Amino acid sequence: MADSNRDMEELEEVEPLEVLDEDIPDKSGEHLQLFSSSSKLFLNSIFPVLIIDRNLKIVFANPSCENLFTNFFNLQGCYFTDVFGKAFEIDDIRKIWETIINGENGYSWKGKVRIKSRAMVSVQVRVYIFPTDLDIKEPHEFIVMFDDVTEENKQLLTSVFISLLEASKLKDNDTGKHIIRVNYYSKRIAEELYHNYNEKYFQVDADFVENIGFLASMHDVGKIGTPDDILNKEGPLSEWEWAIMREHTKNGAFILSTYPNPMAKEIALSHHERWDGNGYPFQLEGDMIPLAARIVTFADVYDALRMERSYKPALTHSVTVEKMMQDKGAHFDPFLSDVFYSIAEDFNRLYEKNKD
Ligand SMILES: [Fe+2]
Ligand SMILES: [Fe+2]
Repeated sequence: MADSNRDMEELEEVEPLEVLDEDIPDKSGEHLQLFSSSSKLFLNSIFPVLIIDRNLKIVFANPSCENLFTNFFNLQGCYFTDVFGKAFEIDDIRKIWETIINGENGYSWKGKVRIKSRAMVSVQVRVYIFPTDLDIKEPHEFIVMFDDVTEENKQLLTSVFISLLEASKLKDNDTGKHIIRVNYYSKRIAEELYHNYNEKYFQVDADFVENIGFLASMHDVGKIGTPDDILNKEGPLSEWEWAIMREHTKNGAFILSTYPNPMAKEIALSHHERWDGNGYPFQLEGDMIPLAARIVTFADVYDALRMERSYKPALTHSVTVEKMMQDKGAHFDPFLSDVFYSIAEDFNRLYEKNKD
């Protein structure tokens, strides 16, 4: 009771302000002033909330909202469409306008939006728009409520694909740790490109770095479709057995075709392509091979060379690096070979730390 009294007192201290354009603060670094009594309701709310006027100008943003969009947008005094326009589909923007101007669906709208920037991992949010006062015939203010569903969606998606990965591990003689190490090496290269080569590799943004590890770990998921006697055969494979073995790239791409990020399919399909065009399945050449797949190739080959197999001994770190550098421009992207060489010690460290 005492607490709720204090809350009430805090709310009382907030003076309601009139809706005047000139009162909208300039980029002052503080959250927006309160423009209507409804904003009081959301001041301390855990729900990220904006209040917009009929012109779609943002008149209030609560701290939760500012927090959610920190590093993405400056919300202050801006128009809703200027801030979120690129994130919404054109059709959604049109419908939001119709909702607010014509009162469609009782002046209410709901939808989904994905917000991204180069430096931040993208967030997925559900958006609900409704008037501040249902009694007013022509409302002049609207609440925009956001629900951050990024983690929820990610967990749903990854849980399905982790099960698939577990199923493929039952079949494949590669150990679980190989998959983990390929994840880490791939992420390490991506981080290096993101931090030190961002002009050359502009497509390597925060999402790319965040996603490549998990997607790299699924590179051989297509081996689920490879017959056991070929997959686990001791000794060299015959030509027709190799032909079947090579199918795991296409099978992987087929299995991962439902994954929303196309990088999953690119890695599965192209991680055995070679820079000189002598790889498989399509003999792609140079940068026709998707970047993510070119990165995973380093991770997969490095780890395969370091591991002991029934048909080959384990190589040391320095012999592995030397061997791979001899293949610069043949098996491997020459520029990425130099990047790999500059961080090769980290590969060694990751291998030692995550040994079988
Ligand atoms: Fe493979
Ligand atoms: Fe592999």
